[in-house]
Amino acid sequence: MSSLALAADDQPISAPSAKNAFSNRRTFAIISHPDAGKTTLTEKLLLTGGAIEMAGAVRAKGNKARAKSDWMGIEKDRGISVTSSVMTFQKDGINFNLLDTPGHSDFSEDTYRTLTAVDSAIMVIDAAKGIEGQTRKLFEICRLRDIPIITFVNKIDREGRDPFELLDEIEEQLAMDVAPMVWPVGQGGLFKGVYDLAEHDFISAKGDGTKHFDGGLDDPALEKALGAETYSGFREAAELAGEGYASFDAQSYRDGHLTPVLFGSALENFAVDRLMDLIAAHAPEPRPQPSDKGPIDPSGEKVSGFVFKVQANMDPKHRDRVAFVRFCSGHFKRGMKLDHVRSGKAIAVSNPIYFVAQERSLTEEAYAGDVIGIPNHGTLQVGDTLTEGETFRFTGLPAFAPEVLRRVRLEDTMKMKQLRRGLEDLAQEGLVQVFRPTIGSDWIVGVVGPLQLDVLASRISGEYKADVTFEPVQYNVARWIRCANEQTLKQFIKDNTNQIVRDRDDRPVYLCRDDWDLRYIMERNKDIAFDATREIV
Ligand code: G4P
Repeated sequence: MSSLALAADDQPISAPSAKNAFSNRRTFAIISHPDAGKTTLTEKLLLTGGAIEMAGAVRAKGNKARAKSDWMGIEKDRGISVTSSVMTFQKDGINFNLLDTPGHSDFSEDTYRTLTAVDSAIMVIDAAKGIEGQTRKLFEICRLRDIPIITFVNKIDREGRDPFELLDEIEEQLAMDVAPMVWPVGQGGLFKGVYDLAEHDFISAKGDGTKHFDGGLDDPALEKALGAETYSGFREAAELAGEGYASFDAQSYRDGHLTPVLFGSALENFAVDRLMDLIAAHAPEPRPQPSDKGPIDPSGEKVSGFVFKVQANMDPKHRDRVAFVRFCSGHFKRGMKLDHVRSGKAIAVSNPIYFVAQERSLTEEAYAGDVIGIPNHGTLQVGDTLTEGETFRFTGLPAFAPEVLRRVRLEDTMKMKQLRRGLEDLAQEGLVQVFRPTIGSDWIVGVVGPLQLDVLASRISGEYKADVTFEPVQYNVARWIRCANEQTLKQFIKDNTNQIVRDRDDRPVYLCRDDWDLRYIMERNKDIAFDATREIV
């Protein structure tokens, strides 16, 4: 991404020609159910891409330190990844932008927004468990946005389910063709390694590297290498796999009809290089992004991008706020002035940063597909569009109605200022939604999952030095309300003052006890729309 960036061998990366420089960008995310191995795979990708030097260094220690991509203390405590981050690395002329997503379902909103900023995804599945709840949910989001998926069946080094059973499950449950690319040779205690069905390479589990077999599955040298018994079982399975499933078709993959499947092990670093090769060769380059004035093409000359994430206090030593921008067109250069479409003001981007694992550096330039961080003091919010003199807005970043509502109680009332600042900052990050009641002065916060409340309390205490607790409110359902007739809306708000709160953009939100109450009120107010999602603009 940057002319300052160094490749694995510390050679500066030469600047590509501006016109199609974006075509070597691969901007992707990893989706998985917690514990399937996303963190481990992330780490191995960074290692393979030369972005970090030592695998496992970060997690193997006795204190269960987490991978470098994890930032926050609370993640360490809970052993889950709760924050999305971005990691950039280069290999063989390809710029990989890996956007990390929280695995826990309570942070699905954050994940959803991150997925608006990627062009493809890797779905990690635990070989012993198959498709789990969170994998399916995230998969559905990818499908909604036509994001092509590569499947990595992980933990093949230990006892797992039958590979055919797993492939059938993916095919049936996700309704897409599967194309096995890398097949396991033995499993669990009998695991010998993996075999690349297209390249005819055997990657040995014994640590003696990769061997190529010119004669493919029929090569006598392969039989010798595997031993007669393992060979016959493997060969039969590999042939069956070849006959029973689709062959890889790049277009079908890009259209989201087919997922190439690799069996591998993130922990043992089997098939991770194959995964990277596959992404480099076939994962889509930056795609046109939807806007209110039609799709914005990545080859467009003028710079444009949108903020999909804001993170406050990434570095606890320096109170800071970073907006993550995904570029969608043009050639961005450091120091450029970009138009902030929401406010109509220009902002000079003089300190754009890019991320390699936990490290950050200044970047000199970026193209479509790249993600940079822009330090700012609250100007940039999730959903904001930045352009080079144009007025369109990128669309499709949703906010969801919260499913858990709580009243915020401050332990020490002298800390009101800190609390307000913390709530504003963390609402801008998208961690929680903050509502102001029409009557009364206590804030109400809304989240999708209760774990967000723990993170909120811990961050307000740690970063803003105010201790808070949360009290239940009698409402469980929140809906944004709108009406073509302003007077009708005003009257509705007046008649229901007790149940109306305002979100941070001062939009009216109606609160009620449950779905039954909601249906009741909707029946009686047919002119009013009760929205469960709203577009962030
Ligand atoms: P997540 O980010 O998806 O939640 O998963 P993570 O990478 O943290 O992996 C979850 C557990 O699975 C970890 O073990 C990790 O070492 C293990 N694991 C990941 N990939 C593989 C693999 O290919 N093979 C095997 N056998 N295990 C794998 P843990 O005991 O929870 O953590 P740790 O003590 O190893 O850090």
